[in-house]
Amino acid sequence: MSVTVRVPAKVNVQLAVGAARPDGFHDLANVFLAVGLYDEVTVSPADELRITCEGPDAAQVPLDRTNLAARAALALAGRHGIEPAVHLHIAKDIPVAGGMAGGSADGAGALLACDRLWGTGASQAELLDICAELGSDVPFSLLGGAALGVGRGERLTALEVGGTFHWVFAMAGRGLSTPAVFREFDRLAEGRDIPEPVASAELLRALAKGDADALAAAVSNDLQPAALSLFPELADTLDAGRGAGALATLVSGSGPTTAFLARDTESAEKVAETLRASGTCRSVRTAAGPVAGATVLS
Ligand code: C5P
Repeated sequence: MSVTVRVPAKVNVQLAVGAARPDGFHDLANVFLAVGLYDEVTVSPADELRITCEGPDAAQVPLDRTNLAARAALALAGRHGIEPAVHLHIAKDIPVAGGMAGGSADGAGALLACDRLWGTGASQAELLDICAELGSDVPFSLLGGAALGVGRGERLTALEVGGTFHWVFAMAGRGLSTPAVFREFDRLAEGRDIPEPVASAELLRALAKGDADALAAAVSNDLQPAALSLFPELADTLDAGRGAGALATLVSGSGPTTAFLARDTESAEKVAETLRASGTCRSVRTAAGPVAGATVLS
């Protein structure tokens, strides 16, 4: 017997970052959109906890207990007095260390899959609690759709979205560490007053209307200068996408994946082709959102 769960990637259409808190984290106003690029996590009974991974980036995925999928299984098992003797297999399509919540997706996927395999019967609230312990972006991977995250980004309010948004994602030649990008944000912010992070009313209206032009005018990412400072070549990728007619260009989360909003599937394909030919990135994918969060497939 096994359970397979599919979990989407995310793009942050707004990432407002406050000053560093005493615990080192930053208060955020984080508007997440789940997009149709997926990891699948399959869990089956085994002699002991082990992880395997397949996919283009599989070599970069840790297969020990630091993997968020393993930590999710251990957390659920610990709460319910269950022996976490399972094989977790990750079919990975979300870029690793890309700012698209790939690791968080695996954590949320493993949690839901183990819950089903073990018949734990945990409530959505308990699952979201465990997700928040695992990482700031993990609750959103479970929930999907679109949501505003405050606090570390883990306290979510679901958002209405009035249409489908078409995106192109350019994967970079190397990863960026999220803590390093936040540290660079702090360094760049030194001596400046950092305002409280708040969600943009204009952006929330654009999402609710499903209006791509209005969304393009409102997207923002406070981590973008820090990501560009650590990875200046990303500016060339952003320029290439802008030149190909993307409505908006931005670094996704802490990067280094870059995201391009397009009017429709056709113009997304055009932006994707131009980016592929530009030689400024490793690979290019198109995906639309919002899509559902972690979903049991079988
Ligand atoms: O919560 P998560 O483990 O995903 O966070 C990874 C790192 O990103 C944290 O250790 C911290 O350095 C940084 N971070 C932050 N403020 C947040 C979320 C993450 O500084 N709200």
